[in-house]
Amino acid sequence: MQDRESEYQSCVQSSERLAWRLDDVFPSDQRLDFEHDFLPDALVSIDRIACLSPAERRTLNQIRGNSYAHLFGFVEEYIIGMTVSQASGAVSRSGMHLRALLRFAEEEVKHRELFRRYNAAFNRDFKTPVDVIGAADAVAAVILGKSRLGVLIVTMHLELLTQQHYVESVRDNTRADLDPLFSTILKRHWLEEAQHARIDFLEALELAEKATPEELDTAMRDYADILAAFDGLLGQQAEMDLQSLERAVERTFTEAERAEILGSQRPAYRRLFIGMGLTNAGFVSRMGQISADAQRRVNELVPLYV
Ligand SMILES: [Fe+2]
Ligand SMILES: [Fe+2]
Repeated sequence: MQDRESEYQSCVQSSERLAWRLDDVFPSDQRLDFEHDFLPDALVSIDRIACLSPAERRTLNQIRGNSYAHLFGFVEEYIIGMTVSQASGAVSRSGMHLRALLRFAEEEVKHRELFRRYNAAFNRDFKTPVDVIGAADAVAAVILGKSRLGVLIVTMHLELLTQQHYVESVRDNTRADLDPLFSTILKRHWLEEAQHARIDFLEALELAEKATPEELDTAMRDYADILAAFDGLLGQQAEMDLQSLERAVERTFTEAERAEILGSQRPAYRRLFIGMGLTNAGFVSRMGQISADAQRRVNELVPLYV
């Protein structure tokens, strides 16, 4: 128990040390630089699409950057609800436990604002309108109706992903044509997500220790169901990106070209948000500490998404 208490304290201390101001990272009048790619190809798998010219690949990369910001803002919606609920259940717990959760919630509201600002800047500065999936609040309500442990596990999965995305982005950032602003956003987001993932784990461990085998089974089914639903949304976003690309490059793709683009983008989305989480070493090892069965259930999902 004392170990967990000091872990909450350590999360608060890290959060205080690493905190950043939204206006410093992304002022509301920030302009976007469309002379650069926004995301490294390691994350979006666009460079090998043969039917696109180099300029069209860059345009798709930028559309993917906007969609990326939108999707993270989209999931922040339920994560804010989850964290506020965890914090209100922890009012009578130790000060450090409560502070860790409250800082977590406040940071997620700031992240949602960061991604909204990014999307607003993109919509203002990009040459043509772009489409993104909607109804984040309705999706959040469905997710928050699932078991608390299942939802915490999904959140830990997503938060650990942000580290991988940043590391891959920095690793690829030897390319002079990669937008430094987007890399900074990935870095700043991850710096705070690192504490969130630690807090998710503490909260999940406590719930798992009290859970019956049936409750643990429900949590793992909820985790799998939410991933499957998210995968469906990612498929819709890949289709929308294609429509946005057609508008931006002013050409209608043939069936073969559509098949090539979606054939690359559909699995790229799946890998980026689902496969990379399921196979993240930190996630798999934390799931093993929650229970051997939970870790086995994660491993069973891998062939569906990787
Ligand atoms: Fe976040
Ligand atoms: Fe987070």
